[in-house]
Amino acid sequence: MSFRVQPQPPARPNRCQLFGPGSRPQIFEKMAASAADVVNLDLEDSVAPDDKAEARRSVIAATRDVDWGRKTLSVRINGLDTPWWYRDVVDLLEQADERLDLIMIPKVGCAADLYAVDALVSAIEAANGRHKRLGFEVIIETAAGITHVAEIAAASPRLQAMSLGAADFAASMGMQTTGIGGTQENYYMLHEGQRHWPDPWHWAQAAIVAACRTHGVLPVDGPFGDFSDDNGFRAQARRSATLGMVGKWAIHPKQVALANEVFTPSDKAVAEARGILHAMEVAKRSGQGAAVFDGRLVDLASIRQAEVVVRQAEMIAGGHREAAEPQRLNPELTTRP
Ligand code: COA
Ligand code: MG
Repeated sequence: MSFRVQPQPPARPNRCQLFGPGSRPQIFEKMAASAADVVNLDLEDSVAPDDKAEARRSVIAATRDVDWGRKTLSVRINGLDTPWWYRDVVDLLEQADERLDLIMIPKVGCAADLYAVDALVSAIEAANGRHKRLGFEVIIETAAGITHVAEIAAASPRLQAMSLGAADFAASMGMQTTGIGGTQENYYMLHEGQRHWPDPWHWAQAAIVAACRTHGVLPVDGPFGDFSDDNGFRAQARRSATLGMVGKWAIHPKQVALANEVFTPSDKAVAEARGILHAMEVAKRSGQGAAVFDGRLVDLASIRQAEVVVRQAEMIAGGHREAAEPQRLNPELTTRP
């Protein structure tokens, strides 16, 4: 047991991140009007190489011209293995409105990737006298990324969120699938002649959650490609929520409500959590460290579990948006490479 207090992630809702190609400015207003907590304007894989420069200009204009309300506004830049990423960073920092909250860095492979982008961003912020410090989010979607996930989570004090990108992850790992997330037909166990489908994304998700929770970063589940399959999306999202992730991407507007539904604690879950806290309060007053609630044992760990649910519900109800800095209870845990 470490004596260090586990840092809290940024206290802002991140139930749904709605993506849209930066080359399709006609949908920006629709993204702003959606019920997503986070909007991600994409400069990377949904934008063709010939459209990169125009998309960059459209995205920069949208940081000024579109009313993004209380949403967290993020732009996904191109990967560090492309010729486009430095121009994305320079133009965004020099020209975008300070309304921009985050940039998302795809395909990160090691802590030094974040160090490099941080150095460039820090220099431009200082040179231009920008007041708001830009935050980062990253996608774990390569074999290198998942191998170095813990050092990546600790790599920059700007880092607020980390997503699992199932499609690129599968490609990098050499997985034999073309599906984006969800159940994989050939990943089954046989028990008494019956097939059962375990979750091939489980270990990567759990590794991301552990790295994020260690360093005060929000763990997020990435895309679910088949947007005609609502129940498939729900099943994937419920597994992610159960493992500790706080939200999921939407790659079509119809997935926003599904993500919000799954990642908003239900009234029943909140009432149960409050019941546990009450039972423990009563137990504490009579000098007990454990009690019975609804026929089962609750103890001091149950308080911490119940507080996760109540804190999440209160934060969502308050619509709190803390764009600038992640809360870190113990700054010593934030190390630079
Ligand atoms: N955000 C907000 N609105 C969107 C949207 C998005 N990402 N995608 C589509 N819409 C709008 C459409 O403009 C249309 O609006 P209308 O009813 O006013 O005409 C409505 O939602 C229905 O759209 P639909 O016809 O079903 O989809 P489409 O064919 O226009 O687009 C996709 C489908 C998948 C190409 C599009 O949703 C998309 O580009 N998604 C994001 C892809 C992306 O960013 N990928 C990178 C991350 S993995
Ligand atoms: Mg990707």
